[in-house]
Amino acid sequence: MNRKEKLRRIVKDKINDRQLLVLSYREPYTHYYEAGEIKHRKNTGGLVAALDPVMKACGGTWIACGETEADREAVDKEDKVCVPFDGDDYDLRRIWLSKEERNAFIRGVSNRALWPLMHFVYVRPYFDEEQWKVYRKMNKRFAEAAIQEAKEKNAFIWIQDYHLALCAKYIKDEMPDAVVAQFWHIPWPSSEIFRIFPWHRELTEGLLANDLLGFHIRYYSNNFMDSVDRSVEARVERENSSIFYNDHETKVREFPISVDDKTIEKMSKETTHNDIDILKKEYGIGDEKIIASISRMDYTKGISEQFMAYDKFLENNPKYLKKVVLVQVISPSRTEIPEYQDLEEKASHLAFELNWKYGDGRWRPIVLINEFIDQKVLVAIYKMAEVFIVNSLQDGMNIVCKEYAAAKQDGDGTLILSKFTGASRELDSAILVNPFSENEVSEAFKKALEMPKKERRKRLKRMREVVRENDVYNWAGKFIEKLGRIEAQVSK
Ligand code: G6P
Repeated sequence: MNRKEKLRRIVKDKINDRQLLVLSYREPYTHYYEAGEIKHRKNTGGLVAALDPVMKACGGTWIACGETEADREAVDKEDKVCVPFDGDDYDLRRIWLSKEERNAFIRGVSNRALWPLMHFVYVRPYFDEEQWKVYRKMNKRFAEAAIQEAKEKNAFIWIQDYHLALCAKYIKDEMPDAVVAQFWHIPWPSSEIFRIFPWHRELTEGLLANDLLGFHIRYYSNNFMDSVDRSVEARVERENSSIFYNDHETKVREFPISVDDKTIEKMSKETTHNDIDILKKEYGIGDEKIIASISRMDYTKGISEQFMAYDKFLENNPKYLKKVVLVQVISPSRTEIPEYQDLEEKASHLAFELNWKYGDGRWRPIVLINEFIDQKVLVAIYKMAEVFIVNSLQDGMNIVCKEYAAAKQDGDGTLILSKFTGASRELDSAILVNPFSENEVSEAFKKALEMPKKERRKRLKRMREVVRENDVYNWAGKFIEKLGRIEAQVSK
């Protein structure tokens, strides 16, 4: 039985004929116009990759924000459209936001308050009471849509991420029999940091309305339990990882998210030498050894720190001049937010400086690709990279490194991985680094480039096994299994 089939079986077993609703801010499919016609594309990112197969397997309803004019045209009068048009359909119900609402809800509270707060405030968060009111209102809008869509009072409702932290409470107030769960895709900081959030009590109460709350790793669950302890009068049972608040139990569990390694491996196998040569030519890369790095343009990703460490590496190891190239793919992200604009400027400036300092007109130490790249090209970059680096200052999981392991089907490649990623708990045979230490990262570049083949292969083999054992279908299956068990207890 393949993995998709296995997940389908779990969903059938555990969910049965019951309804499953998924709620997230980002929609899985976006419609757009091309030559006057409406087309659609599947959105990238871990969340969609992980949940689309679940929805295909059980055909529920996914509630998310619509974005484009074409999105509006594609839906029926109930704001619904059937996706993904390949036989395994499910309903996508779109929620509409005005420009002002998006500004306060997403750009404001989600991306300028909660995002930096949850990533341990290396960038100062920005709090605004008016925006918080809109965040509340938008969470209510999602909850109302879920209540409207729920055909049975005991539906399963699976909420995603930090945009919807209050949603469970609004749903449970109206539908106490619904089984409500949430997966938190980003880190959770210490209770001291969490307390600076002006509405920390309200946020905690919102999350404690869930029957099941999932984090990537134990460290975030523990931080969450500490935060609850200091925010509200709840009974936190650490041995059972359960929290009792107002006679309601929230189980807190870890589910490290993953990737569809088989699909990536297949894409990698289909990538020919010729494809890679074309790509190298396009970016002016010759026979140098390739170190690659791929991330969104985000201050949590340690991009500037990585450039500075690379500078140190070249300075200390001049024999590598003209022998290596760092291919740095950064996809534009949240470009309207000032902190992201600053980062873009800083990263581009540093790359320019390094290329000016070491480059010779023909060879550049950094190839900066500051644009959206198709998944096929990303896989080609994984494939051609002898060394891959993920230097995040904080990262809930980081699935890019798991994709790298999956794409290296020839069994040869080295991963440098920040200790402060969720993934470092599983991929412990990578070269683990402290991204804040220029020295450590610069030495890791050397170590990775000089690692004996036997050791490289051994380490990569371990990583590939880990990714294979816990792929994204497994992740979803485990979550659903747990949900099913909670349901059984509720209905007793
Ligand atoms: C993280 C979050 C996602 C978010 C993604 C990209 O992975 O957990 O919810 O969608 O970053 O951010 P964006 O602002 O582009 O949605």
